[in-house]
Amino acid sequence: MKFFIDTANLEQIKEAEALGVLDGVTTNPSLMAKEGIKGEAAVLKHYVDICNIVDGPVSAEVLSTDFDGIVREGEALAKLHKNIVVKVPMIKEGIKAIKYFSDKGIKTNCTLVFSAGQALLAAKAGATMVSPFIGRIDDSNWDGVQLIEQIVQVYENYGFVTEILAASIRSPLHIVQCAEAGADIATCPLTSIEGLFKHPLTDIGLAKFLEDAKKMG
Ligand code: E4P
Repeated sequence: MKFFIDTANLEQIKEAEALGVLDGVTTNPSLMAKEGIKGEAAVLKHYVDICNIVDGPVSAEVLSTDFDGIVREGEALAKLHKNIVVKVPMIKEGIKAIKYFSDKGIKTNCTLVFSAGQALLAAKAGATMVSPFIGRIDDSNWDGVQLIEQIVQVYENYGFVTEILAASIRSPLHIVQCAEAGADIATCPLTSIEGLFKHPLTDIGLAKFLEDAKKMG
């Protein structure tokens, strides 16, 4: 399973990269705005900065909602760096654009996916990745992990190669549940990745080993 970090914060990206287990990055307009990045030039530069930290796929989201606009923006984003993946919303115009990008060899991440039917459309259009938002589904009192299981099954039935990128992760438990369900990738806040380290028996065991080690002289 690949680990992506879900942030536009360069310090957190560097911290996750230093762990040695990071495979890529996802951003979205909300995460970019949170970092105070304003204006087209600053946004484009920020994507390049991220690509210079992590050698793996970096999702950069289009803001247009019409086919021509999505294509124009996506082509410009893809030219920024070889690792850019164009993030396209799950709407009719988005699916048409994903098919266009797929035919041109431009990698895509179909975002804002909340059902298996939407994931099926994304795969048929040739999306490189599909992003089911499991945390937001849980927040709505449905079962986000169950959606991952459903998409895994549908893709297996037909041999779709679109990677399932579990997004909107809220906890380390979500990561483990998505791994059990067979997601190809989890994109996570740094806190959820770091949560995977935690177990009280590890801390207790290490303290005891270090204490006993003092007796070794
Ligand atoms: C990533 O690709 C998604 O945009 C992100 O995981 C959404 O997360 P949120 O539901 O915490 O905003």
